[in-house]
Amino acid sequence: MANIISLPTPEECAILILGYSGHTVEPDKAQDLWQKIIQHKWVLSEKIGRDVGSKVSCLDFIENIEAVDQSLHDEENIQLLRKLGAIMVTPDIWETISESQPPKAIVNKRIILPFTVTDLAQKHGVKPPRALLFFGPPGTGKTHFVRAIAGILHWWYVEVSPSDLMADGQDRLGINLKRVMEKVSELDNVVLFIDEFEEIAGSRDLASRIDKSITNEFLKQIPFLKKRNRRNLLICATNYIRQLDAALLRPGRFDCIIPVGGLDAQGRRIILEHYLSDTNTGEIDMEKIVSMLSMFTPADIEYLIQRVRQVAFESEYEEKKNCLVTTETFLNIIPEISPTLTQEITEEFELDCEKFKRF
Ligand SMILES: Nc1ncnc2c1ncn2[C@@H]1O[C@H](COP(=O)(O)OP(=O)(O)O)[C@@H](O)[C@H]1O
Ligand SMILES: [Mg+2]
Repeated sequence: MANIISLPTPEECAILILGYSGHTVEPDKAQDLWQKIIQHKWVLSEKIGRDVGSKVSCLDFIENIEAVDQSLHDEENIQLLRKLGAIMVTPDIWETISESQPPKAIVNKRIILPFTVTDLAQKHGVKPPRALLFFGPPGTGKTHFVRAIAGILHWWYVEVSPSDLMADGQDRLGINLKRVMEKVSELDNVVLFIDEFEEIAGSRDLASRIDKSITNEFLKQIPFLKKRNRRNLLICATNYIRQLDAALLRPGRFDCIIPVGGLDAQGRRIILEHYLSDTNTGEIDMEKIVSMLSMFTPADIEYLIQRVRQVAFESEYEEKKNCLVTTETFLNIIPEISPTLTQEITEEFELDCEKFKRF
């Protein structure tokens, strides 16, 4: 009882805390805080076996409470990331993409550097983009790129697809999308990736009432996310950019619209080498094989590798002797695979690039 009666007024408590610790506290919080500091003084003095004094208790308590607050905050964020299914991606993925692939240079200059060389970016008033869209034919490596970005930035990677967002019913897509975007907008160091984006933000001219409301919601969410001054990225990908709502593609929504097309020879070689590094290979004429894969996407190359590995595996099983993947194996299998890219697809992609690309 005596303690409570002798407790200083809120204003006096604020002055005491300021004097002892240099921290300014609102009077309405100061009295409660001062009581805790006095309790802390008793506990600390008990522990040490002498009176530690008000100044030491005040400083110790305030420093600890700040640390506690921060760790609570971190813990909350980690819980949130877990709920979102966030993963950490290895930075090596970046190395599997050839420097000669146009999107790599764009991503490096426009996204990675402004987020990593922050002083220089600030000096030149360069603000990192916050919302990106990748487009291009299927299997060209759009998802791979997004993972590579998360990996090289050492950020969390959160992937959502329309089917995830509709897991509890088609009519829940809009609300689930809003929730995920709101959560991510509170977090730093996160890449939020939305795949098959045309299913979320298709043209409103062709859409049903529900689809329209989702596109509208998304149009609202992008500026909301960008307004928060956080270190996070929204990246969307689509194989069908023509199906997207025109309003989304206008400047002000996505900061960059980046095409991901076919591979050049160097790009094909790097992917091939990557997969051959854990294949049981003999003599391989790289030059020859690379030249035969001009219309192959990374997905097609991955499939080709699976096929040649299977051939070697089956041969060894039957013949009971070491069987190697050689140029010959490739020459037999390549004609059996029809690559994703055709003249028509490539021409359409070129037209889309002219019309939509922006970075
Ligand atoms: N540069 C690359 N190196 C190795 N594998 C790649 C590369 N780019 C893509 N792949 C692989 O090719 C497949 C298709 O790529 P993906 O990113 O899913 O294409 P998209 O998202 O454009 O449909 C994936 O299994 C991916 O791991
Ligand atoms: Mg993909």
